[in-house]
Amino acid sequence: MRFVVSGLLFFFFSISLSAASSMPDSLYDNASGYASSSPNGQGAVASVHPLATKAGLDVLDAGGNAIDAAVAVALTLGVVDNHNSGIGGGNFAVIRYANGSIDALDGREMAPVKAHRDMYLRDGKGDTSLSSTGALAIGVPGSLAMFDYMLDKAGKKTLAELILPAADLAEAGFPLSQVSHDRLKRSVEKIKLFPATAKILLDDGGNPWPVGHQFQQKDLADTYRHIAKQGVEYFYRGDFARQLVKWMEQNGGIVSYEDFAGYQLKQRQPVISEYRGYQIYGFPPPSSGGVHVAQILNILENFDIATMPAEDRYHVMGQAMRLAFADRAHFLGDPDFVKVPKGLIDQSYADQLAKQVTLKTMAEDVTHGEPPKADTDFFGKHTTHLTVADKQGNWVAMTTTVNTSFGSKVIIPGTGVIMNNQMDDFSIQPGVPNMFGLVGNEANSVQSRKRPLSSMSPTLVLKDGKPVIGIGAAGGPTIISQVVQGLVNMIDLGLSTEQALKMPRVHQQWRPQITVVEASLPEPTKQLLTERGHKLRERNTFGSSTAIRVTEHGFDAVAEPRIVERNRQGAKAD
Ligand code: GLY
Repeated sequence: MRFVVSGLLFFFFSISLSAASSMPDSLYDNASGYASSSPNGQGAVASVHPLATKAGLDVLDAGGNAIDAAVAVALTLGVVDNHNSGIGGGNFAVIRYANGSIDALDGREMAPVKAHRDMYLRDGKGDTSLSSTGALAIGVPGSLAMFDYMLDKAGKKTLAELILPAADLAEAGFPLSQVSHDRLKRSVEKIKLFPATAKILLDDGGNPWPVGHQFQQKDLADTYRHIAKQGVEYFYRGDFARQLVKWMEQNGGIVSYEDFAGYQLKQRQPVISEYRGYQIYGFPPPSSGGVHVAQILNILENFDIATMPAEDRYHVMGQAMRLAFADRAHFLGDPDFVKVPKGLIDQSYADQLAKQVTLKTMAEDVTHGEPPKADTDFFGKHTTHLTVADKQGNWVAMTTTVNTSFGSKVIIPGTGVIMNNQMDDFSIQPGVPNMFGLVGNEANSVQSRKRPLSSMSPTLVLKDGKPVIGIGAAGGPTIISQVVQGLVNMIDLGLSTEQALKMPRVHQQWRPQITVVEASLPEPTKQLLTERGHKLRERNTFGSSTAIRVTEHGFDAVAEPRIVERNRQGAKAD
């Protein structure tokens, strides 16, 4: 079965079960378990879970390439990090093949055929509970279609070889991490709305499983084994699709068998821009990630970031983010449905916007700009990021998600698959903020078979034609600001990969009119930002980035230090 609409549109671990069956101090304790090079030098893997990273490293050591390893990591994350991603969700990947060609693969969820602009309006008002939880929140998932395509195009292993170890892990179970427990705690009331979900994710008393609990998912193991036997047909046209449709009919949903059978993976052209001599390959619409990472970096190129004091750097970055997010809200949507101006990534447009970025003050508010050729030149029509590279020159930057924690909170009974709530990434009514506080307009309205706008920003960076950095992040709209700051910290400030990800982060998304800062940002810097007009909202930490970089010593793979630290604390307390 082939899902790809090719040449499209325009611009736009075998798992060691013994290692997994108890909570060895080292499982969540050691940053190198999350991100490292394979011992025999075949490549490197960075993800947010040590068992997923091990899956990828094992595949590399068994003769697989980065494409195979990325699929193994993603399928294993669907088991061990199921609040973030899984086959019930979608993904974007920027892939560089050993022959030098670069693909942007779009496995984003599609709205069902019966979806329409006003489907979330009740008494004329957008109801976000409907777009975020339950049957109507679910879009048609694309992750498996992407894995199938990637392997067919450039893999050395079969889907069955990569999914069976993950099935074994799902059946045997693994010790629950602190981060997974945190997410269960936050979602418990909504999970309880769906008995089939609660039966798997909560104990008999309706409480989240504790840290260190041997978490088993027998139904998911069965689903993975059916896929190993029957291929992705099982999911899109076989028993999985039939069970889902039956559940939809009983629960007021609109996803049909035809929606599943008609899912289309799309091959798109990456967004390419230059930043201080590096070539940045980002993801095009329906992600806003590539466009706005490029746009923000283009604005920052007008400033000598490397020599600025920290407060100036954060102030300038915050304003550049605000301008980009104002454009996002106005212009961005699925390029197969709306016209997204290519001029948004034009350097001359960024130079013009940079004039609005001031050093010691900031404008009270901004609106969207007027990119060049806005009428004629268009891009063709809670989440996790993984990065894999191999010594043949294959690189995969993949961001994959069920959207917010545990997606729609729906597990179709008997399947173990957590279904996404990606429909909430549409703008359900102009001006009504989604779960991330993002507002949008017509460009991102709900339409039949349209893809909801995303912020996912899997990014590859080349220098003189050779891949040197793979980076991406999780965390809704903060993905864009995390990727920008990761790159600025490496390229402008010359920090190590780990230091670049550890640096305190800021995030500005135009609406609401606040600048989010991490608590670790030094107090004097916060004070100076406030004096310059930022309305600060402090969060303990935010975001989750992973990156791989080529250094003189080989691959330097780093997973989000905040996740590693949170799990380390949990492992110590256990
Ligand atoms: N669901 C988060 C994003 O795609 O931006």
